[in-house]
Amino acid sequence: MADEPRHDDVRDNRGRTVVVTGAAGGIGRATVSLLHAQGANVVAVDLTDDGLEWARELPGVLRIPGSVGESSTNAAMVSAAVEAFGRLDAVALNAGILVSGDIRSGTMDDYDRVMDINVRAVVLGLKAAIEAMADTGGSIVVTGSVSGLAGDSGIFAYNTSKGAVVNLARAAALDVAHLGIRVNAVCPGPIRTNMTAHTEGRSIEKAMAARLPLTRFGEPREVAEAIAFLASPASSFITGAALPVDGGVTAGTGQWATVGGRSAGMP
Ligand SMILES: NC(=O)c1ccc[n+]([C@@H]2O[C@H](COP(=O)([O-])OP(=O)(O)OC[C@H]3O[C@@H](n4cnc5c(N)ncnc54)[C@H](O)[C@@H]3O)[C@@H](O)[C@H]2O)c1
Repeated sequence: MADEPRHDDVRDNRGRTVVVTGAAGGIGRATVSLLHAQGANVVAVDLTDDGLEWARELPGVLRIPGSVGESSTNAAMVSAAVEAFGRLDAVALNAGILVSGDIRSGTMDDYDRVMDINVRAVVLGLKAAIEAMADTGGSIVVTGSVSGLAGDSGIFAYNTSKGAVVNLARAAALDVAHLGIRVNAVCPGPIRTNMTAHTEGRSIEKAMAARLPLTRFGEPREVAEAIAFLASPASSFITGAALPVDGGVTAGTGQWATVGGRSAGMP
């Protein structure tokens, strides 16, 4: 049909304007790089100018330093996109923190800190993005986690926050679908970034990899691909989804090792 875009026109983010938070970190940086390579205008957001220094080499990428925990940062990133590029097409609310501590030993200060950045800041980001997209439509992608789809031992605050943000994406998707705004979550498994750097070269790394059906950690680029797809019109009929990017770990009950896991040393 004549009014349907050709597949070539929708499969990437060419000419679109996309905001990415957590852009100094592994997944955020890979997402900014991929979107830039696809021809998007990108606004990169993270805590400090220094953290965003790497993006200087990408022409046309705007850098906004600030905490996503502040309304002012969320307002600034959205208005920078509209002022510089004329409109806002997509936002990746990806900044997040992980604090260890189980339900007995974890402090309420740590719990509040994790909920503030992983949930409250995402609400602020959603509100700012939706306001800017209300007349044009758009796509919002939240970075959840497999830790939001099931529990882990020793990181209860993170599990709570990621569970909340996955359901937040669903609820927001329902609230704004009539505006042509889509909201989805990506749910990464273990990915090689600063967040998992403490496992590197330790026996825990091998053990975690063996529990994944694909028997390896993911690379930031592999999550960026999912974010870029959900940000693009190629995913135009997908909203309210939670997409695992997890090497298959949430496909299983965890009761039995896979063939790959047994080869990697799991009984
Ligand atoms: N790495 C993994 O294994 C994994 C797995 C599942 C989900 N995730 C999620 O992916 C997202 C990205 O994490 P990553 O793995 O790239 O880790 P990362 O630590 O490399 O990056 C996180 C980035 O968020 C930024 N950030 C933190 N608080 C901020 C704030 N208040 N304002 C602005 N920026 C802030 C940090 O400065 C950092 O650059 C997070 O939401 C994380 O929870 C990661």
